[in-house]
Order: sequence, then C-alpha cells, then structure tokens
Amino acid sequence: MLSIPVKRPLPRSPQLLTSLPGPRASALVERDHAVTSPSYTRDYPLVVARGEGCMVEDVDGNVFLDMTAGIAVTSTGHCHPEVVRAIQDQSANLLHMSGTDFYYEPMIELAEMLAQRAPNPHPAKVFFSNSGAESNEGAIKLARYYTGRNLIVAFLGAFHGRTYGAMSLTGSKTVQRANFGSLLPGVTHIPYGTHASLDYLEQLFTTMLPPNEVAAIIVEAIQGEGGYIVPEDGFLERIREICDKHGILMVVDEVQSGMGRTGKLFAIEHWNVAPDIITTAKGIASGLPLGAIIASAQIMTWKPGSHATTFGGNPVACAAGIATLRLLEQGLMDNATQMGEMLQAGLFKLHQQVPQLSLPRGKGLMVAVDILDSQGNLSKELRDNIVQIAFHHGLLLLGCGKAAIRFCPPLVIDSEQIQVALNILSEILR
Ligand SMILES: Cc1ncc(COP(=O)(O)O)c(C=O)c1O
Repeated sequence: MLSIPVKRPLPRSPQLLTSLPGPRASALVERDHAVTSPSYTRDYPLVVARGEGCMVEDVDGNVFLDMTAGIAVTSTGHCHPEVVRAIQDQSANLLHMSGTDFYYEPMIELAEMLAQRAPNPHPAKVFFSNSGAESNEGAIKLARYYTGRNLIVAFLGAFHGRTYGAMSLTGSKTVQRANFGSLLPGVTHIPYGTHASLDYLEQLFTTMLPPNEVAAIIVEAIQGEGGYIVPEDGFLERIREICDKHGILMVVDEVQSGMGRTGKLFAIEHWNVAPDIITTAKGIASGLPLGAIIASAQIMTWKPGSHATTFGGNPVACAAGIATLRLLEQGLMDNATQMGEMLQAGLFKLHQQVPQLSLPRGKGLMVAVDILDSQGNLSKELRDNIVQIAFHHGLLLLGCGKAAIRFCPPLVIDSEQIQVALNILSEILR
C-alpha cells in the first residue's frame, strides 16, 4: 500500500528554531550563488521549503509570516487546497497543447470569466501571456497595431517589466536600464499621479509631442514598485478624457494592483474608468505563470499570426486561474478590503507613536508606509534595516519606492495575522 505522507499544518504565527539563515539555508544560498544569475535581488537569505496560507516554512523548519505573497502573486494564499486540486486535476488530463494552434476548455473558460468581469467597454477579448512584462509587451504591439501610431506615454516611477519593450516603458530605477543599449524609441515619461503632470502632458501635446501620433498612455492604477502610490483624485479619469480627445488608447497595467488585491478585481474599478486595454499577471493564477491582455473586442483586431506564444494560456495555469477567480469572488476580495482597513488603521496608530513611520497609503491589501530619518527625510537605509530585522523576527517584508515598506500579503490573511505583523513592526520600530 502506498502511504501518503500527512503534512503537518504550519503554525499561524512566526516560529524561529535556528539563527538565520539556518544551516540548510546557508548551504543552499552558497550553492545558489555559484550557479544562478547575479542579477537577482534577494534582500535576505530566505530559502523556502513550503507555504500554506500566509505562512511559509524555510528549509530549517523556521516559520515566517509572509507579507509579500511572493511579490503580490499568491493571491489565494500559498497552496490553497482548491487551487492545488484544480492544478492536480488538470495536470492529470492535459499539461500542454498550445493555445496558439489548438483549443482547450480551461483557456476558453478563463477568457470568458475575465472578459465578462473586466471594466473595458464590452464585449472584451483576452490574449494570454506568461508574465507581466509579456502582457505589457503585447499591449504595446496591440496599441500600435490598432492605432497605426508609434508613440507611447508612460510615467516616471512606473514598473512595467524588463523585456525591451516593457523596459522602455519602465521608469523606476536606472539600474534596470543601465548598460542595455538602445530601447524602444518614441516613449515619453512624465511624472505620475498628479494633475500637474497631466498639465505638463497637455503642454507637451502643443509643443513637442503630436497627440495624433500617440498610440497609448500606459498607467498603473496604483503605482506598484514606484512606492504603492495612489494617484490624486481625478487623475485616472482625466487620462481617460485626454485619450478620448485625441484617439489615444488608455492602457492600464494591473499586473500588481489587479486580481482582487485592492478589494476589487481591478484597481481601476475604484475610479469607475473604462480602459481600452488592461494588462494583468502576478495574482491571476495564485503562483502559476500566467498573464493576460484584456482589450475591447473592437480594439483586439490583430490578424492570425500577428501575436502568439507557445506557453501563454497553458491549461494548468488557466485551471489555477479559474480556481483563483472563484475564490476571489467567494470572499477573498471582501477580506482584502476588511484586512486592508485593519492594517491601515494599525499603521496609522503606529505612525502616531513613531515619527519615523509615515501615514499609510494604499487600497485593500496593497498598502505601504515610508520610513523617515530623524530629520523627516525618506531613508532607504533605515527602511532596508527594518526589512532585514523583520526577517530575523519571522516577518517577511519587501521594500518599494525610495524608502517604503510594502504590505501585499496573500488575500487570505486574517485579523490575528495582521495584528502579529503590526506587533512585530511596532517592536522593531521601538
Ligand atoms: C505593475 C507591474 N507591471 C509589470 C510587472 C512585470 O511583471 P513580470 O515580473 O511578471 O514580468 C510588474 C512586476 O513587478 C509590475 O509590478
């Protein structure tokens, strides 16, 4: 008889058994450094063995509370049983057939679900990719194809990915562009999030940038890597108006902010704006590589062969996506709203007690605070220290922006775990 090992459930708060990194983690980090690309940006030596909900266990048996969700990806929590079951069932039937050349139901079903729910003008259509960069890459192509125009407007602080097209839109850190040679021509970056920046864009339209040659304005509904920045009221609505005025497509990058993270399926729904094209990835399949471009059917008119990919819309990833979307609608998006409010309320209290912590910002479980030095200036150094110390307290955090700590936990997080995270942070800051 085959005996199936029963997994011990993980504790629901951090439990550290060794100093960090423990012996197995140290050995694996050493092996990793010998053979993997030095371009990866690991902030601390966490070597994960397994995950469950909001908790992850490292290879030495240390358990951490994960406020990162693997960079906003494991939306339904690590290894949600329903997602795992969907993956197992689909894997036993069909691993791959390539949606570019053949049909299979999981891809059709997920496309139907996304097209029905996305806030684009309906009807909408979906192209599946494998990542956020690839979704944005495809969105640039689609915008140019449909409009017959060449130019693109993007924003400083934006992160859209690291392939050449997506990197050309990214305006986040010079290290992401340095030494890579020439990028896509015709991309203009303007500051993010304020009416002043859109005044500037309108000035550019009368001085340097012919608006009738602009194919798209690509914007994050809430800027992610740039610091979890929520734009000024009316900013996104005004982009829509500018686009309508000049026949420009509004492309909204929801790779980080989408798939329920902010309490709505897409963050742009907080503003009631209908984008022409939405790009998504990250949380869409709870951890399997999948991305999507969702566009109004009247825009997604490219001809067979003009855009395709071997793996995009893989049946197993789509099965995980279907299970994910169901779970988001069965309560996880509401939980994101409630837990996000609790998190911001707790951070607000901490801000009142500790001057080094800015006011919190964000929506749902896409929340950040800036770390300030004693003069009130943004302090990257202090932020990096806090992230390190948090790791040694069993709390996984990530930075973003100049000096922000971001909180983007799995959307299954509960009030006790939010409190644990706040307690650890409070202890560190004091
Ligand atoms: C808003 C946004 N767009 C695009 C990307 C790129 O996604 P990927 O790393 O899957 O290529 C990211 C990644 O962090 C992102 O946050």
